[in-house]
Amino acid sequence: MRDYREFLAEILIPEARLQARVLELAAEISRDFAGRDLMLVCILRGGVMFLADLMRALSVPHTVDFMAVSSYGAGVRSTTGQVRISLDLTTSIEGRNVLIVEDIIDSGFTLASVLELLSARRPQSLQVCTLLDKAERRETEVPIAYCGFVIPNKFVFGYGLDLDEYYRNLPFVGVVQPEKFFAP
Ligand code: IMP
Ligand code: MG
Repeated sequence: MRDYREFLAEILIPEARLQARVLELAAEISRDFAGRDLMLVCILRGGVMFLADLMRALSVPHTVDFMAVSSYGAGVRSTTGQVRISLDLTTSIEGRNVLIVEDIIDSGFTLASVLELLSARRPQSLQVCTLLDKAERRETEVPIAYCGFVIPNKFVFGYGLDLDEYYRNLPFVGVVQPEKFFAP
């Protein structure tokens, strides 16, 4: 895989801004869940970087579990509203206060499916924390309790988000130049 600088259009959210916002979100969540039980459900794989930083900054006790879903293949665009659960949780969420930790909400189909599936398991509460919200792309309404940044309709990568599975490790969120990355 090529060096990301070959197709980076701009750094949309630099590392310092990401880290500062994650601390703010963690403070907010810690306040809201003070004295209550909390379970974080991270959506793999994009949510891992955000989860790792967020949980370190939480001051309330909590457990973590993971789930993987896929609506996107190797390409950029979702072709259907269907989402496949490729890895399920290994612990029960019944009676728990569940906070879903996502990297980005685009059409909303992924999250809508996850919410439907998890609410059937009778958690005490079920909320969403997303790092990024591509609000103008929304096709199905989903409730968001915590949001890091509302971003424009551009394809982004880094800080957990991939381009064909690479570049998740970058500490910032960058915008791709599609004609440079997807050129043959
Ligand atoms: P949705 O179901 O359309 O809301 O898609 C959400 C999922 O699509 C996210 O969890 C990401 O995996 C992926 N996705 C959407 N937009 C981007 C992007 O700009 N960069 C990388 N992944 C994205
Ligand atoms: Mg994802």
